[in-house]
Amino acid sequence: MKKRVAVLISGRGSNLSALIGAAAAPDYPAQIVLVISNIAGAAGLARAAEAGIPTATIAHKGETREAVDAEVDAALRAANAQIVCLAGFMRILSDGFVRGWEGKLINIHPSLLPAYRGTRVHERVIEAGEALSGASVHFVVPELDAGPVIAQEKVPVHPSDTPEILAARVLTIEHKLYPAGLRMVAAGEVRLEKGLAVFG
Ligand code: GRF
Repeated sequence: MKKRVAVLISGRGSNLSALIGAAAAPDYPAQIVLVISNIAGAAGLARAAEAGIPTATIAHKGETREAVDAEVDAALRAANAQIVCLAGFMRILSDGFVRGWEGKLINIHPSLLPAYRGTRVHERVIEAGEALSGASVHFVVPELDAGPVIAQEKVPVHPSDTPEILAARVLTIEHKLYPAGLRMVAAGEVRLEKGLAVFG
């Protein structure tokens, strides 16, 4: 049985597209059953609709973070989601939500975690004169971008890189890495145990 996966987005949705593409393969262990955006009209919503995937927009309308997250949680449970992928989802989730999906909630971050958590990653990597950057798929824990890594891939940083050029190079590998990371979680090849990623 394919695992039922929901994807949370805020924008462009190129990683969502990569996941939809991978999940189209008959032997892929996961299917995307719901896409939720916190931003109305996010481009990724149209991509999901094109693929025939149900979508929802749950925007922040002045309620507490916990109230919004409870709404997201209810939509995920109603869709019988078993795994939740954050794909360019630009809202911090409450600790309660994260704990409720512990081991089933994953994210992709455009750096070689634990280095360069947070935002402005490519600017900071270039400013620091790094020779290597990359992307990481990781389990989500309450502390931002601090969860254990499931899969990681490196790219070179060139002296002439701008943040935009480096972002594009990293994004290319994200589109392979996220489907690979989700495959591992859906197939039960990696799980979160006592705060660590356990393989096999
Ligand atoms: C990606 O770079 C991802 O690593 C980061 O946000 C960006 C989302 O891009 N978390 P997209 O919406 O998937 O195109």
